[in-house]
Amino acid sequence: MTELKPPRPKHFLDLDRLDTAELRGMLDNAHRMKRGESGTGDKPLAGKTLAMIFEKPSTRTRVSFEVAATQLGGHAVVLEPSGTQLGRGETVADTARVLSRYVDAIMIRTTKESILLELAEHATVPVINGLTDVTHPCQLMADVMTFEEHLGPIEGRVVTWSGDGNNMATSWIHAAVRFNFELRLACPEMLRPPQAVLDWAAAEGGRIVVSSDVDAMVKDTDAVVTDTWVSMGDDDGESRHNMLRAYQVDDRLMALAKPEAIFMHCLPAHRGDEVTASVIDGPQSVVWDEAENRLHAQKGILTWCLS
Ligand code: CP
Ligand code: NVA
Repeated sequence: MTELKPPRPKHFLDLDRLDTAELRGMLDNAHRMKRGESGTGDKPLAGKTLAMIFEKPSTRTRVSFEVAATQLGGHAVVLEPSGTQLGRGETVADTARVLSRYVDAIMIRTTKESILLELAEHATVPVINGLTDVTHPCQLMADVMTFEEHLGPIEGRVVTWSGDGNNMATSWIHAAVRFNFELRLACPEMLRPPQAVLDWAAAEGGRIVVSSDVDAMVKDTDAVVTDTWVSMGDDDGESRHNMLRAYQVDDRLMALAKPEAIFMHCLPAHRGDEVTASVIDGPQSVVWDEAENRLHAQKGILTWCLS
């Protein structure tokens, strides 16, 4: 008799590993749950537990996942390396095997993508990427949701990134391909997104432009997006400030975009660095909706992972 292998868990690792229909389904569900439409699928975590491993600080990811788990009928446990055997050298693989015996899904925010992938390889429950050094896909699900709430379908629209070609920029590239919009990245030469990511996008037929001419990139765009100049784990803050000063999103830059353009930022923000207070606290800013939508988008992600 042939032995039946257990089905592979439905991991949410990165947008480039999932197809558009799956991602769209998660967002449709997120919108539906945000509207408060109840259905039989709205307590997919009933009696279930989400483990959340944080190797880096977090406000939004930590609170929104915990609230999402509770609202979906479940419970969340937070693990920080300093308080677990992971911090004393227990392997990621063994941690994955053990946690899989207790919990129904694992969310991890980690310093290295390889740790996320190792966890996913050895876990028998879904693993969710809550940020790595190279991507932040949960944030992008909230960002696409927010764009569409304010401006309608993102397909065919133009989004401009101004700043560091960091983990958020890479996830924006993945999103541009999966959701079929044009992404312009204004970055200093030294801080462009990884060439491998740009090559992947080109091979997928993505419309991605990279330039150091920030004004040209912002002209007539639908959304201007930025992020911190110094991400968690970066240790070259001074040189980054020097390279990125010209990429600050201020009123002059926003005036080059479409009049109805929105300003987006995953937060936390640094007023006076990557964005002026007048922009982030001004009428075009949708950053609080983005933060709220982490909750709704992650409900869509958790529901998909456990379905
Ligand atoms: N945007 C985001 O992921 O925020 P936190 O670092 O607070 O989780
Ligand atoms: N690029 C930032 C995102 C924080 C949510 C970082 O990695 O620190």
